[in-house]
Amino acid sequence: MTSASDSTAEELSKLGINGEWTAKAPPSLQKNLQLLSPDQVELAKMLVDMGQTHLFDHWADPGTDDEEKKAFFSQVTKLDHSYPGGLVSYIKNARELLANSKAGKNPFDGFTPSVPSGEVLKFGEDNFLNFEVEGVKEARRAAFVLVAGGLGERLGYNGIKVALPAETTTWTCFLLQYIESILALQEASNRIARDGCQREIPFAIMTSDDTHTRILQLLESKNYFGMKQSQVTLLKQEKVACLDDNDARLAQDPQNKYRIQTKPHGHGDVHSLLYSSGILDIWHAGGIKWVLFFQDTNGLLFKAIPASLGVSSIRQFHVNSLAVPRRAKEAMGGITRLTHADGRSMVINVEYNQLDPLLRSSGYPDGDANCETGYSPFPGNINQLILELDPYIEELRKTGGAIKEFINPKYKDASRTSFKSSTRLECMMQDYPKTLPPTARVRFTVMDKWLAYAPVKNNPEDAAKVPKGNPYHSATSGEMAIYRANSLILREAGVKVDDPVIQVFNGQEVEVWPRIVWKPKWGLIFSHVKKKVSGSCSITQKSSMVIDGNGIFIHSLSLDGTLLVKSSDEAEVKVEGKVQNKGWAMEKVDYKDTSVPEEIRIRGFRINKLEQLEATHNESGKFSLKP
Ligand code: UTP
Repeated sequence: MTSASDSTAEELSKLGINGEWTAKAPPSLQKNLQLLSPDQVELAKMLVDMGQTHLFDHWADPGTDDEEKKAFFSQVTKLDHSYPGGLVSYIKNARELLANSKAGKNPFDGFTPSVPSGEVLKFGEDNFLNFEVEGVKEARRAAFVLVAGGLGERLGYNGIKVALPAETTTWTCFLLQYIESILALQEASNRIARDGCQREIPFAIMTSDDTHTRILQLLESKNYFGMKQSQVTLLKQEKVACLDDNDARLAQDPQNKYRIQTKPHGHGDVHSLLYSSGILDIWHAGGIKWVLFFQDTNGLLFKAIPASLGVSSIRQFHVNSLAVPRRAKEAMGGITRLTHADGRSMVINVEYNQLDPLLRSSGYPDGDANCETGYSPFPGNINQLILELDPYIEELRKTGGAIKEFINPKYKDASRTSFKSSTRLECMMQDYPKTLPPTARVRFTVMDKWLAYAPVKNNPEDAAKVPKGNPYHSATSGEMAIYRANSLILREAGVKVDDPVIQVFNGQEVEVWPRIVWKPKWGLIFSHVKKKVSGSCSITQKSSMVIDGNGIFIHSLSLDGTLLVKSSDEAEVKVEGKVQNKGWAMEKVDYKDTSVPEEIRIRGFRINKLEQLEATHNESGKFSLKP
């Protein structure tokens, strides 16, 4: 006769569980093992071996909460699969980083900073134009990756950030702007190649549980904004387990004791996701040479893309970080070469709060200071990267896409033994070069800030509190930056554009330039703009102008009001003469006025369309617009 416990022991031994292991497992888990599949038992063993028995302390006897127990293991399976090396690696890495943090170890100990080499470009100069042309040529061998998994807590917008209008003259949302820019690059690049082959630029978007469904819905509802659905790949990042203490005990979800609490791991996940999805090999087989990474709310970025891709190509950069001139102490990471006494060397972003102490401790007594140019010698990182695909794949084959992580626990007191709330490992996409050998060509390209960088990250209240001299990074400043850049580009092309006026919206003092907007296919690079603007043109500050069509040519136009011109790809439209009307006025809106849509409120103004001249040519042929 066999007893019940004998049969359980038999079952367990079939699952490979022996007495030695069961002795380590808490009784609450032992009793429930029979509910688990062999794979789940393996995971249970792993959790016990990794000191996570507390997760089972409250488990009810079999028959109670059984579905919840299975759901717990589904979650553990997911956490295990989505981290390079699984949960064992995650817990080990966490213990190491937590120990370093407790000991107050500086991750840059032993490293000496110096200024790395790179390319510094000025908009409109000859080499800028040459790099732009090269960039357009290379674009058909590029793939774009948008990291869009972030919650955007600082902005506090109710929708997803990529659905937010970049500007409200045309109400173009970020995602539409990005897709139109990629399609314009694709078209121009295929045109230059003249090999009859219409290549399609792949576009991957990293989403998360916080953004995935809404990004997919946005794309589907807008028919992928004109891009082929087959060009777009969504890759969803998973969150990582939270940690309760310095032993890296996984935190239970406060809402459900049968779940582990999770939080976002950061945009560094993009590398492991691209690798594990197999998409890099597909791109490689399809002739892709470059991968361009960018973020969700920079309405200027694509003005900087052609030239910086051109730099990557001509200078043969394996890693090219886009950067802008940075003033000392500005809240922006600096791109720095770090050389270790043991011979290690890397070019990497150093966060601004780490740069000053690092410099002071390495023979720069003034720390983070400006040099004779009036700027810090360390270029300001804007977190847009261009990687050459071959060496990228080679590196990921070694690392699996794992990026050096960091941890930022908020300790309860100076003993650094307990946390105010659970913490987790995080990683950043710009830390990719940390594992590269010193032979890798890791460089940067500096662009004018007005051309390249104006992200929308902060809500109006926080933006208004930004210390003077620092950028607001709000919806207001992001929109104004687009008008400013377009005005400055037209000025450079010879148009007399009036100076801006200073206005205050939502407590932020901004320059208001004429509201000039064009579709990417009209003015993809500066030489395109120059070809399309001729004669003596002028635009007053109160004006707005929207150009939507590749074949629109502006000749001796004097604009004082609003002009909207739209044409099909087959039409050529010449716009000339004097346009004068009441135009579109900007009216202040109070952020707190909840009767106003959020997209408008967060800017602090709305556009009142008083009067405009509008011309549309959908048919092919040559047209002239002479008011
Ligand atoms: P941000 O620094 O803007 O962070 O991310 P965030 O999480 O979106 O916003 P806050 O900090 O909560 O206010 C920079 C870029 O990285 C993406 C964001 O979507 C943005 O494009 N990101 C961030 C991810 O894709 N995943 C993450 O886990 C975090």
